[in-house]
Amino acid sequence: MNTHIQDRLGRPLTDLRISVTDRCNFRCRYCMPPEIFDKDFKFLPRNDVLTLEEIAHLTTLFVKASGIKKVRITGGEPLLRQNVTHLITLLNEIKGIEDIAMTTNGTLLPKYAKSLKAVGLNRVTISLDCLDDEKFRYINGRNIGVQSVLTGIDSAVEAGLKVKINMVVKRGMNEEDILPMAKYFKDSGIILRFIEYMDVGNTNGWKLDHVVSKKEIFSIINKEMPIEPIEANYEGEVASRFKYKDNNNEIGIISSVTDTFCSTCSRARLSADGKLVTCLFATKGHDLKELIRTGASEDQLVERIKDIWVSRNDRYSEERLQQTDKKAIRKIEMSHIGG
Ligand code: GTP
Ligand code: 5AD
Ligand code: SF4
Ligand code: SF4
Repeated sequence: MNTHIQDRLGRPLTDLRISVTDRCNFRCRYCMPPEIFDKDFKFLPRNDVLTLEEIAHLTTLFVKASGIKKVRITGGEPLLRQNVTHLITLLNEIKGIEDIAMTTNGTLLPKYAKSLKAVGLNRVTISLDCLDDEKFRYINGRNIGVQSVLTGIDSAVEAGLKVKINMVVKRGMNEEDILPMAKYFKDSGIILRFIEYMDVGNTNGWKLDHVVSKKEIFSIINKEMPIEPIEANYEGEVASRFKYKDNNNEIGIISSVTDTFCSTCSRARLSADGKLVTCLFATKGHDLKELIRTGASEDQLVERIKDIWVSRNDRYSEERLQQTDKKAIRKIEMSHIGG
């Protein structure tokens, strides 16, 4: 088995996040504000989007370059991509890939969960920011009710997929929903993770005041339902894990703003148009699509992937923490690289 290559800060490349579309059926105000992602917004033209075969081929090259074992399919909303089930089939056939996961808003899971599981998807992470129907309809910008997501969660569980829930916490938006969400999922066997609101992209109007810190989230929950920290599942896990003292069930907090985890960051991202992105907050990616479409050999592509990773020294969140003079840099949008 290939050993993992390391970047300039000694971090191995162990997993790949693959965005399969930049489109979404939601317009979450912190991710794709509806006034910006409107009917005139120019999404990627079809020809610029990697085919499913190109994605699978590139994935085999990441296995060759660094022995990656984990892939996560993201979007936009990945279930909007035609034939995404076929992509899972292709990825599942790749020797070396042991864990295939997907991050989704859940609304299309009733249609796809069973077939996704059947072709090798292991896990889904479903985004849900509150249980208050009116508020949720506002947040997602498309007037979609909570029940659509809850039904999606049920379908995933019934299909035998492992399920986690992601709740982005933004001050003034849903900090009062932390406890109701924690209570709702506490005995469900589903792991709920709270995510500090991040300054991804340029369009979501992020301010530091909007961030509800890991410390604050911890104390809101701990006061009502005591929790304690537990060990990470794997080196480089983004969520700090906790368990309820009374039933041992797990929750997580993802603190990319106040308690950063760049020092163990081992994830590469592949955008829907075939750019290799080495940090969630990068300003640009490295074009691999152009290389495959102009006939580069496998060896050349593997070498290119290795070169990009070994030159990497991104540590945006750590730098953000230290930075006092905020320079405005043009970052890639969340919906383009899938978080
Ligand atoms: P598993 O640990 O495999 O379950 O997945 P995950 O938590 O890495 O994936 P998920 O897509 O659920 O991401 C959870 C949150 O963490 C999202 O808000 C992501 O944008 C964020 N996230 C994931 N990876 C990184 C990263 O490398 N850096 C930062 N800053 N945030 C990340
Ligand atoms: N900050 C934190 N998390 C975000 N997500 C989308 N935008 C942001 C942001 N600005 C979450 C989604 C999804 C995951 C991939 O990232 O809700 O669960
Ligand atoms: Fe919301 Fe996820 Fe769609 Fe962004 S990609 S608008 S967070 S559902
Ligand atoms: Fe990795 Fe960049 Fe996130 Fe730091 S900010 S953990 S380097 S993706």
